[in-house]
Amino acid sequence: MTYKAEVLVDPRRLRGRIDPLIYGQFIEHIGRVIYGGVYDPGSPNSDKKGYRLDVIEAAKALKPSVLRWPGGNFASGYHWRDGIGETRNRPRRRDLAWGAIDDNSFGTEEFLEYCRILGAEPYLNLNMGTGSVDEALRWLEYCNGEEGGIPEVNERMRGPHGEPHGVKYWGLGNEVYGWWQHGHTTAQQYAEQAREWGKLMRWQDSRARLIGVGANDPDWNWTVLKTAGRSIDYLSLHFYWHAKDDAYSSTLAGPPASEQEIITAYGMCLGARKLMGVERPITICVDEWGVWSKTAVQADPSKPSPMEVGFSARSGIDTRFEEPYDLKDALAVASWLHVMWRHPEKVTMATQAQMVNAIAPIHTTKTGLVKHTIWWPLAMAREQAGSHSLILVTRTGAEVEAPGLTGEHLPALDAGGTFDPEKSQVHLSFVNRSRVEECELTIDLMGQPGPMDSTTLWHEDPFAGNTEKEPELIVAKRANIGVPKSMKLILNPHSHTTVTFQV
Ligand code: AHR
Repeated sequence: MTYKAEVLVDPRRLRGRIDPLIYGQFIEHIGRVIYGGVYDPGSPNSDKKGYRLDVIEAAKALKPSVLRWPGGNFASGYHWRDGIGETRNRPRRRDLAWGAIDDNSFGTEEFLEYCRILGAEPYLNLNMGTGSVDEALRWLEYCNGEEGGIPEVNERMRGPHGEPHGVKYWGLGNEVYGWWQHGHTTAQQYAEQAREWGKLMRWQDSRARLIGVGANDPDWNWTVLKTAGRSIDYLSLHFYWHAKDDAYSSTLAGPPASEQEIITAYGMCLGARKLMGVERPITICVDEWGVWSKTAVQADPSKPSPMEVGFSARSGIDTRFEEPYDLKDALAVASWLHVMWRHPEKVTMATQAQMVNAIAPIHTTKTGLVKHTIWWPLAMAREQAGSHSLILVTRTGAEVEAPGLTGEHLPALDAGGTFDPEKSQVHLSFVNRSRVEECELTIDLMGQPGPMDSTTLWHEDPFAGNTEKEPELIVAKRANIGVPKSMKLILNPHSHTTVTFQV
């Protein structure tokens, strides 16, 4: 069966500039993200310093513009001093977030060097759980201070880099609205604390840009914004899409549901600025997002969730956050990129959770790595998308079920578009959400296209994914179409397709 759809593309109709910081990644001390993923001393795949070279290569292809560290939940119990100086002198510490023992061999300098290797802006998340504002200000001093004679600056100068690191992005804590967090608190208490911490961080370094903890809860967000609005530049939101009864439809309904949260939260950012006379923008930073069906956790319901009991990943025993990913998950990731492109003034930073091994597009083995299906839409967008968001007008002749979403239905075709004014290049991305119907798509373009490149991510089974045994079962197939004779495309059911061309 086939349904018809049309998309009208006018490269003069732009929504605005897309902030390159939406293409970030998150790495936390959880499971094998850092140890065994990013950093694996002794592995034949690592360099002399311990960085996994195969991970660097796969991560570089994702061009992460910003990298968030050290957590997540881990950040709320992390003391940065444990991770500086000679490695052999660093203390081993118990991490209460995930129940692991961390030898602190990967610390601030190792992280900042990794950012330089990947070409990513560092984003450090402060410990507002067991830490103090003094500790935070000293971390800022250690990273950015220029004034000799201050102990933290001297310490950095004795270290491997010496020069100020110029870290601009600082998180004011993590998910403190949740019982699972060190320092779980109320919106009002957090907001007052964030206002003070943010104020002092800015007094010390006016270049610091601060991210306040938001939630998928308007009440929480409004309290934070109206109390701490003068001290923050971003409101953080986290989105994880879980497969429910109908795994296919519920996963694909995730990103559009998050779109509604973004619209709601951004309205509050505007409201708070007006109320408080704040001229600076306050925008949304989605610093954790991804498909997290907890498949591996659910696979053994007899074991309690790692959130409840901690997670002994450093022993290599419990790897329950190592999600397998399939084609439908990749479709959700592609749709999420469309959401961010549709709201370029609202979402100005995002870091995908996470980069390697735990809920991640890259999975390391002892000898190499597997790129999960979700790696592909990220790589395609970051390689091909333009700097500006295109307004697309679409007409779709079919709908799909969208459990949990207002209206419970979505258009079967989901489209996103960008434009690069310098190259005069259009990039279009399509998710055919229909599991069973192909889509006959007509692109109505104002003008003649140049030669067209396309990519298609598809497999007959939407639940198929890449594994160690079959690492390349699902990869994006590239084609050079030349100057297209017609602007009609046939999109396979449950597929992701991109086209890029000059106008
Ligand atoms: O990304 C895994 C965890 O999920 C993070 O540590 C936490 O912030 C979230 O609950």
